[in-house]
Amino acid sequence: MEIKKLNKTDVQALTNLERELFSNPFNEQSCLQELTEANRLYLGLFNNNNLIAYAGATIVFNSADIIKVGVVKAEQGNGYGKLILNQLITELKNCGVTEIILEVEHENFKAISLYLGAGFTEISERKNYYGLNSHAKIFKLELNNEN
Ligand SMILES: CC(C)(COP(=O)(O)OP(=O)(O)OC[C@H]1O[C@@H](n2cnc3c(N)ncnc32)[C@H](O)[C@@H]1OP(=O)(O)O)[C@@H](O)C(=O)NCCC(=O)NCCS
Repeated sequence: MEIKKLNKTDVQALTNLERELFSNPFNEQSCLQELTEANRLYLGLFNNNNLIAYAGATIVFNSADIIKVGVVKAEQGNGYGKLILNQLITELKNCGVTEIILEVEHENFKAISLYLGAGFTEISERKNYYGLNSHAKIFKLELNNEN
């Protein structure tokens, strides 16, 4: 297993994983844009050159937004989500980031537990953000020298 920064050569693998995991996935063009924009950081966890997990963020000065975290369905629940998220947080901190924001659908309990476990706290909720009765929860993690 190894964690690497994703680049444009990973676009097909990322597109495939997006399709597997999300009902509104990034298409190939959006994935390419995500992987090539200057202020993005995407990490991938590879097993025998197969992308099994990824996490991506956008960075603006000292603030980052986590865009996506995903683990191939067959490997969910094995600790890889936690692993890739923690590595992304470490690398963002090394880039000088002091606060990380993300949003998650209010019934995505797996993701919410993942984020709470990583130290995020809920700061607000946007009602019906994803459609009727599908709310967005906004979480924040402050980084300091102790975490
Ligand atoms: C959310 C996701 C990234 C978690 O990755 P994962 O590899 O399955 O999770 P891990 O095995 O690393 O577990 C991390 C934490 O998630 C939570 N979790 C994992 N499986 C869970 C389950 N079945 N039910 C509830 N919580 C669960 C736990 O809090 C766990 O921490 P713990 O083991 O210390 O209790 C993954 O399930 C996924 O890709 N889901 C689909 C895409 C998605 O919704 N992404 C998030 C929004 S962008």
